[in-house]
Amino acid sequence: MGAHPEYLGQSDIQFGKKESLEDTAKVLGRMFDGIEYRGSNHAVVEGLAKHAGVPVWNGLTDKWHPTQMFADLLTMKEHFGYLKGLTVCFVGDGRNNVANSLTIGCLKVGINVMILAPKKLQPDVELTELAQQCAKKSGASYFITEEQSALNTVDVVYTDVWVSMGEESLYEERITLLHKYQVNQTLMDKTGKNSIFLHCLPAFHDLETTVAQKIQRQYGLSELEVSDEVFRSEASLVYDQAENRLHTIKAIMVASYYTI
Ligand code: NVA
Repeated sequence: MGAHPEYLGQSDIQFGKKESLEDTAKVLGRMFDGIEYRGSNHAVVEGLAKHAGVPVWNGLTDKWHPTQMFADLLTMKEHFGYLKGLTVCFVGDGRNNVANSLTIGCLKVGINVMILAPKKLQPDVELTELAQQCAKKSGASYFITEEQSALNTVDVVYTDVWVSMGEESLYEERITLLHKYQVNQTLMDKTGKNSIFLHCLPAFHDLETTVAQKIQRQYGLSELEVSDEVFRSEASLVYDQAENRLHTIKAIMVASYYTI
């Protein structure tokens, strides 16, 4: 029988409502050769990995987004031809899942990381300590700032939504904190001459979605974390990045069977 995927959505699976996470993990492990979890609670993916007995891939949690990083690194490698020594700047909600994984992924391969975020949205101590350890090992630098003054050394500008899954009540607060951190052409002009723009998507760069339209009605903004101009510019490699999700997740799945 050939391999085939099975999707279990919110209404198909419980993780602790009537069946414990441990029992569900053990049952799924008997039925599938691998499990990708994309949800919110990071403890669930840890529980699955502990109990399922088959490879478990983190497809996104509230804490990390590690599979995204492989696509991001591949996109940078394709564009620049190398990784070690590049400088990536994550702009915006500097303590979200994507920022966390980007930081660790980049530092591990020797890419310098700058987090440009307001104080309230900077990474916590646990993440910072882990990042410093990775930086020490690879020789890369790790830098957190509120100021745009160091952008001239940046090769890659990366941003993500201002409000991540589960935080939908925080739009007003985030807009107040982050409107000065929008990635627009003025910000891009402060970066290195041949810099590129990356975003894990979905992005609020225009009014083509119902959520963006609602935000515009409420707060009067037609673009949030990235301007439409930058999103559609030549520097923007967001669709290469999206395509690379496909290639890298396949590689991760294959690699899992050689490492367990
Ligand atoms: N930070 C975003 C990532 C989406 C891929 C979120 O958690 O919603």
